[in-house]
Amino acid sequence: MMPKTNTMKTTIISCASEKGGSGKTTINIILATNLFFKHAKKVVLIDLDNPQYSVYKKRQRDLKELSEAEQQTAKFYPIEKSTVKELDSIIKTYYGTVDFIILDFPGNLNEEMVKGLLYVEHIFIPFFLDELEINSTVIFYKTLKNNFLENDGRVLRGVNLFFNRYEKIKVNKFAAIRRGFKKSGMPLMQSVVMDRTIYREKYRNTLQPIPESRENGEMELNEFINEVIEILND
Ligand SMILES: Nc1ncnc2c1ncn2[C@@H]1O[C@H](COP(=O)(O)OP(=O)(O)OP(=O)(O)O)[C@@H](O)[C@H]1O
Ligand SMILES: [Mg+2]
Repeated sequence: MMPKTNTMKTTIISCASEKGGSGKTTINIILATNLFFKHAKKVVLIDLDNPQYSVYKKRQRDLKELSEAEQQTAKFYPIEKSTVKELDSIIKTYYGTVDFIILDFPGNLNEEMVKGLLYVEHIFIPFFLDELEINSTVIFYKTLKNNFLENDGRVLRGVNLFFNRYEKIKVNKFAAIRRGFKKSGMPLMQSVVMDRTIYREKYRNTLQPIPESRENGEMELNEFINEVIEILND
C-alpha cells in the first residue's frame, strides 16, 4: 500500500494475541493515548472487535466526562470501528497522513481476523504467567514468524512479547520464563506492564495520558512506552 499524495511515514502496529482477556485492548488504548498526547504522534486507533466495539464505545463515554466547552475544544485522535472487510479502505484513508495506525483485534482470532494481521508491521504480544498461556503464546509467535516474518511478501517487521500484569511478588516465576523465552529465541521486551487497577480504570482513557503528577510513581509504564518507541524506530 503506497501513500498517494500524502507523504507521512505511517507504521501499522497492534498489541495482539491469540488469547482472550490478555490485555490487548487496555494496552492499545494506553499506547494510542500516550503516543498522541505525550509524544505528539498522529495516531488512529481502529477497533476490530465487532460487534462489541468496546474501544469505540469507550471514546463516547470518555467524551461524556468532559464539559460541553471542553468537548468543543478538546483535541484527540480518531477511533474508527471496522470489520475486517472494511479495514483495507479505512487503512487507505489514513495511510500517509498519520504516524501510527493501531489495530485492536478481538480475542478470538478466527480465519477471517487473521487476514487483518497481514497489515500489521509490528506486533506486541502481551503475556501473563500461566502454563497454558506459555504454550499458546509460543505457538502464536511461531505461526506469525513462519507465515508472516519469513514470507517474501511480508509486511510484518517485528514481533515482540512483553509481560502484562506483572507482579513483583512473582519475580522468580517471571524470571524463569524470561530465561526460557531467551533460550528458545523468543524476543521478550525488557520492560513490563504491572498488574494495577489504574491500568484498567484511570489510565485506560482515550482522552488523557498518564498524569504528569503520577509520572514518577509510574515509571514502569513510561519505560514500556519508550521501549515500544525504540523498537518502532529501529
Ligand atoms: N496491566 C493490567 N493491570 C490490571 N488489569 C489489567 C491489566 N491489563 C489488563 N487488565 C484487565 O484485564 C481485563 C482484560 O483486559 P482487556 O480487555 O484489555 O483484554 P483483551 O485482550 O483486549 O480482551 P479480549 O480478548 O476480550 O478483547 C480487563 O478487565 C482489564 O482491565
Ligand atoms: Mg479486547
